Amino acid sequence: MNAEERGFMAELRGDVLDAGCGYLFHYAYYERGILNGRVNIFHGFDPNGSLGLIGKRIPPRLKNRFILEVNTSEKIKFTRRYDNIILRYVFSHFSEHEKCIKKLHAHLKNNGAIYFIDGAGKENMTAPSAMNARAKYIAEWNLFHARTTVTRNLKVHLDCYRKFLNQQEFKRFEAETLNFYLNEPETKHYSSREIISLFEKNGFRIIRGLEGRAFGENSLQLIIGKK
Ligand SMILES: C[S@@+](CC[C@H](N)C(=O)[O-])C[C@H]1O[C@@H](n2cnc3c(N)ncnc32)[C@H](O)[C@@H]1O
Repeated sequence: MNAEERGFMAELRGDVLDAGCGYLFHYAYYERGILNGRVNIFHGFDPNGSLGLIGKRIPPRLKNRFILEVNTSEKIKFTRRYDNIILRYVFSHFSEHEKCIKKLHAHLKNNGAIYFIDGAGKENMTAPSAMNARAKYIAEWNLFHARTTVTRNLKVHLDCYRKFLNQQEFKRFEAETLNFYLNEPETKHYSSREIISLFEKNGFRIIRGLEGRAFGENSLQLIIGKK
């Protein structure tokens, strides 16, 4: 997590949405925001069914401030508008990117802000040669991901949750999670330019943008508001 991300998380306010929240990587920030009175409601969703078990780590006195839902960005129906939305390494997992962006636009408050980070290349994917190069890269990346990132990062993630779950729950969590990741459909990687233009053509403006490297690949980090 870099300074930009830490800064955004420290300033969370109002109603907060984490789309594709996985295992609540940012849980500590959400809890702190609620305890210091800046965050009203936290809503996190993810298609991975083991999210339900993660709800158990939330202290009972805070349960009514957390809404955790097993769902996808494509299917979910929002009933409120958010002050902050987190899109952390989830954009490339969407299957209908524009539909999801439009939905987020309708449910971000006018003065709200999105924190976005994801892998993104610089090349223009519409050129056939670049598409081929990208396809090869994605195939290699997925192989790498399945063999190393999933198993290694999963262990790190799982170790965090071991203390919150009893042994039987933990085994279910571990099996569901690994199975979910290994069966996830191939992700689509857009270039930075394509990601930015998808947001801009759907009523957003880029407040701040930064290209860098994360997890050994190019990454794009954005703070996004409404036009
Ligand atoms: C790389 S993980 C990132 C998780 C979390 N945002 C974080 O930063 O730790 C990608 C997440 O996207 C979720 N995901 C996959 N398809 C999705 C979809 N269509 N809508 C929302 N989330 C999705 C996966 O279950 C997974 O938890």
